Amino acid sequence: MYLRLFFFILFLKNGIIQLIDISTFLLEKEFWFMSNWKELYPMINCRRSSRKYDLSNPLSKDQLSEITDFIKHLEPLVEDIRVEYRLVERKKTTCRFGEYVLVIYSEKKPRYLNNVGYMFEQFDLFCAKMNIGTCWHGLGKPDLKEWHGLESVIMITLGNVSSKIEERDLTKIKRKDVQAFWEGDIIEEVSRSTRLSPSACNSQPWQVKQDNGVLRVYQNNKNKSIIPKKYRNFYHSIDLGIFLCILELSLINHGIEFNRVIEEVNIFEDIYLVMSYQLDGLIN
Ligand SMILES: Cc1cc2nc3c(=O)[nH]c(=O)nc-3n(C[C@H](O)[C@H](O)[C@H](O)COP(=O)(O)O)c2cc1C
Repeated sequence: MYLRLFFFILFLKNGIIQLIDISTFLLEKEFWFMSNWKELYPMINCRRSSRKYDLSNPLSKDQLSEITDFIKHLEPLVEDIRVEYRLVERKKTTCRFGEYVLVIYSEKKPRYLNNVGYMFEQFDLFCAKMNIGTCWHGLGKPDLKEWHGLESVIMITLGNVSSKIEERDLTKIKRKDVQAFWEGDIIEEVSRSTRLSPSACNSQPWQVKQDNGVLRVYQNNKNKSIIPKKYRNFYHSIDLGIFLCILELSLINHGIEFNRVIEEVNIFEDIYLVMSYQLDGLIN
């Protein structure tokens, strides 16, 4: 059964009120979003940081256009933050591997780092689905530090790889045990997927507390890490955005509806609350 809702926008053209039905557009966007997110979920077990690329097999025009088309549809965590990107040849940057580098630029509004992590983890997973290797790249410099008035935030290297990107041996992935970062009620499949989130220097700076159908996600800047203290909040905030993307993909995939509440953060605390989720399916 196809339920069609009608949304109209009004505007004035030549002094005449025009009525436009935008319901089809909204439904298409919703459909695109749901089907793509469902397809990204299995990639959580497959994605990895690729540091070896098959440069004898450059990305084709079709691959490049699929990538750039996908980026146009990335779902933001926070609305109204301008984010732009440039796909440049690797040699234009100081990155040491990859055929291309995606340089990401963002407006510096509250939560912009969470937002970048959240948006471009979708890209990371999409590339894994296309068997394109990627690696988030915090160390290194792009050719242009600024683009359209926005500062560069982070880069992602990419290119074809010689091996197939398939499910990893999950027992061999270096990550903390679920018990080390998740307190309270545990949703097995969701905690298992979020555990695999990538992070700068594999620091895994997240903590989760779940009780009474509310899941709270914290950023832990006191976490053991080789990242110098003054850069920790920067990288960990991107890591948290990545984590939230993987968390939400897992919740959606397991049919758990949620309401996201963006919390006021206090970055001067060592551990601070970033986001709360009211889980509709789990309210006691
Ligand atoms: C924000 C961020 C920055 C990163 N920067 C680099 C980097 O500069 N160089 C690098 O080789 N890997 C970098 N990584 C990759 C991490 O080291 C990697 O994700 C982590 O060790 C987990 O391994 P996996 O991605 O293979 O699962 C970065 C990852 C993230 C999330």
